[in-house]
Amino acid sequence: MAASKFSHESIERNVGLMIVLVAVLVSIAGLVEIVPLFFEKADITPLPGVHPYTALELEGRDVYISEGCYLCHSQMIRPLRAEVERYGHYSVAGESVYDHPFQWGSKRNGPDLARVGGKYSDEWMRIHLRDPRNVVPESTMPAYPWLQHEPADRGMIQEKMRALRVLGVPYTDAQIAAAPAELKGRTKEDALIAYLQSLGRDMKNVHQ
Ligand code: HEC
Repeated sequence: MAASKFSHESIERNVGLMIVLVAVLVSIAGLVEIVPLFFEKADITPLPGVHPYTALELEGRDVYISEGCYLCHSQMIRPLRAEVERYGHYSVAGESVYDHPFQWGSKRNGPDLARVGGKYSDEWMRIHLRDPRNVVPESTMPAYPWLQHEPADRGMIQEKMRALRVLGVPYTDAQIAAAPAELKGRTKEDALIAYLQSLGRDMKNVHQ
């Protein structure tokens, strides 16, 4: 019996048509899942106590991204018992509202860093970043000794904060005006440590 033009069989036999129809189906299914998230209040409202990054922390975040730390570290604690016992309260959307782009990541060669703020002293972080083997002999993390010698980049900080403000991060004019002074004399290492110490800090206030 000849298959009618749009029978299941004719679709399966026509790879081009199959690809188009699968793409249409996946697009619709994706939109149905994704679009409501843009309007879900719990996902787009910052949790009480969650603050935007300071200028120094924001610059440290850019060091984190440019050095590729996210390739080995996630910032997303899953709601599983083993994760919560190891890292602390599982991640919720309301704590990433000011993160553009978020650093949840998906690769864990090293531990999750979502709540690493306050776990170690600044001094530990400094020694660890310069050579992780100084404090964790079996560590496979690369050393980042040059960060202590490079000044934190002050040239773009105000533009970055203004761009984030357009995306909804509530920086005030005074904070933006003060940003270059906040970075004066600070190194990339200082900025990165300030960023690491900020991770999960606000959530500790919320969940305890
Ligand atoms: C090649 C993978 C890799 C990369 C890239 C990497 N790390 Fe790590 N990191 C690890 C591993 C493995 C550990 C666990 C051993 C240790 O503490 O050194 C770790 C541990 C850490 C810890 C301690 C976490 C804890 O809870 O004890 C911090 C903080 C950290 N890394 C920050 C960074 C930062 C910042 C960068 C980027 C500048 C970075 N890492 C890049 C693999 C990596």
